[in-house]
Amino acid sequence: MCGIIGIVVSKGAIKERLGSVLRKCLKNLEYRGYDSVGFAIINWNNELIVRRSKGKIDEVSRKLGFDDYDGHTGIAHTRWATHGKPSDVNAHPHIDCTKKIAVVHNGVIENYQELKRELLMKGHVFTSETDTEVIAHLIEEYKKKGIGTYEALKEAIRHLKGAYALAVIDKDEPGKIFFARNTSPLVIGIGKNEGVMFIASDIPAFLEYTNHVIVLNDGEIGFITSSQVFLEHINYGIVNVNERIRVVDWTPEMAKKAGYPHYMLKEIHEQPLALSSTLAGIGSEAHKLAELIASSKYVYLTGAGTSYHACLIAEYLLNDLVGIKATAFIASEYGRFRKSIARNDLLIAVSQSGETIDTLMAVRRAKNKGAIIAAISNVIDSAIPRESHIAVYTRAGPEIGVAATKTFTTQVLLLTWIIIKAAEIKGELSPKRTSEMLDLLKKIPDIVNTTIRITEPSARKISSEIALKTNAYYLGRGLAVPISMEGALKLKEIAYIHAEAYPAGESKHGPIALVEEGFPVFFTILSDEYKDLIIANIEEMRARGAWIITVAPKDHEKAFSISSFAFKMPRLEYWAETIPYIIPYQLIAYYTSITRGYDPDKPRNLAKTVTVE
Ligand code: G6P
Repeated sequence: MCGIIGIVVSKGAIKERLGSVLRKCLKNLEYRGYDSVGFAIINWNNELIVRRSKGKIDEVSRKLGFDDYDGHTGIAHTRWATHGKPSDVNAHPHIDCTKKIAVVHNGVIENYQELKRELLMKGHVFTSETDTEVIAHLIEEYKKKGIGTYEALKEAIRHLKGAYALAVIDKDEPGKIFFARNTSPLVIGIGKNEGVMFIASDIPAFLEYTNHVIVLNDGEIGFITSSQVFLEHINYGIVNVNERIRVVDWTPEMAKKAGYPHYMLKEIHEQPLALSSTLAGIGSEAHKLAELIASSKYVYLTGAGTSYHACLIAEYLLNDLVGIKATAFIASEYGRFRKSIARNDLLIAVSQSGETIDTLMAVRRAKNKGAIIAAISNVIDSAIPRESHIAVYTRAGPEIGVAATKTFTTQVLLLTWIIIKAAEIKGELSPKRTSEMLDLLKKIPDIVNTTIRITEPSARKISSEIALKTNAYYLGRGLAVPISMEGALKLKEIAYIHAEAYPAGESKHGPIALVEEGFPVFFTILSDEYKDLIIANIEEMRARGAWIITVAPKDHEKAFSISSFAFKMPRLEYWAETIPYIIPYQLIAYYTSITRGYDPDKPRNLAKTVTVE
């Protein structure tokens, strides 16, 4: 995890102080981690200044006076601890013994203990418990051979095992930021103004300043000056930089809060727009994936967290609409299928960020076995799409809130579209029926818009009661199970209330033992074959004093008459209801988190993009 930003400027190229620009850019990366913060700046007298501390960006930058520092070259870091607890000494940047070299890092150096032992024997003194610090000392060590910083970094890279995105500055070579990438993301931003160059973990970091980017690949290494990018692959040599520049169509406003108190609420409200943009972006790649599905004997789906829930929905629809054997598995549980994934099996990897290491590793392992890999992602050119045979993008725009909202509904929309098309190709759906179904999907953005408007006041109201609870069940049948799982995950993630999802029919085989007076149980009912069967499950819970909250089609009088609280939802076809039916759960989790006094954008112990296994 962790967020990195680096900037090199020439005199007069920007009006603000470098410290202030670094702080602003870093703030856009806070979703990547926020337990400690630090920066290193080479000032206009070519002195190296390093400041770092435990805490979140606003608090640390006030304490350390981020904005007061100026210079021409700077790097900064927001941390999500992996090796060494969050503390002042473990905060990045890390420096070498000569106090000339400063390093920020995202990732994990697997062989750091071995390297540290060797460096200690050579007399290096370490001040932190991190894996990162070895990199600063390694560069220092190689420089002793009389080579420059860049060559020393290259030498160091050859000895590192593991994942890294690195930005390095050296007082001996001011005006340059050296960088390297393996597995962890890194992007270069080419300033709109002459004389400004950026490097960052993610594009929103510098979007206010430029939308001209180069997304780095694994094995790439180089340096930036205020006017130049030097880039090469550690094994294959120099890269033509001009051919790699891409212009992204994200505006800075898209990456900001747009007047909402939190990114999460903004992103919930952005869903109609995001869903429209997903539909508008459907093109040849989505068609190709539909064809691949139709010609596959077996389809695997994998992802983590919310993306895994989208996989479960797709698994159900692949069975139900296409009649294809499909299995969704949690990416970090790849081992379950190690032996059975075979050449030409299709693996669909779903990942908002495209960088989740668990998903990336599952992709790599399945690819090694000859499987065909298709990626569904929101981030163009991120690792998982790049390592896949085919990539289809959700185009939901940047999502900053740690809890996924618009990226979930857009994943589900895109997968549903692809699966309907696959069913048509396979002859399971007639062209007429297919176009009817796709027409219904086209209405989803409007339906979601209405759903937000109608359910938000009720979600806000009920949250004050939920905020007082310590546990909750989320029950459903069939396709409502993954919706329940996503609802429960949202409540856990941001309101810190223990929530468990179960297939409603299974709830009598154990979970019901916990139910007593006032225990909240959410029931999700879709317009499917289970809509009447589930009534018995509601009654069972009610008989034990459960407090029943039901999300169901608006004319399901029977269900509402035995519930304490009702979310009356639009009645659609069951397979299209997945998207609007998650909305009340997103809103309930958001308002419950606020009521309990938490920051839903920055849930404790979580990070948006998890790049450690
Ligand atoms: C983290 C985030 C979740 C997200 C999961 C998968 O755990 O906190 O919100 O669903 O990673 O992320 P991905 O980018 O692969 O969809």
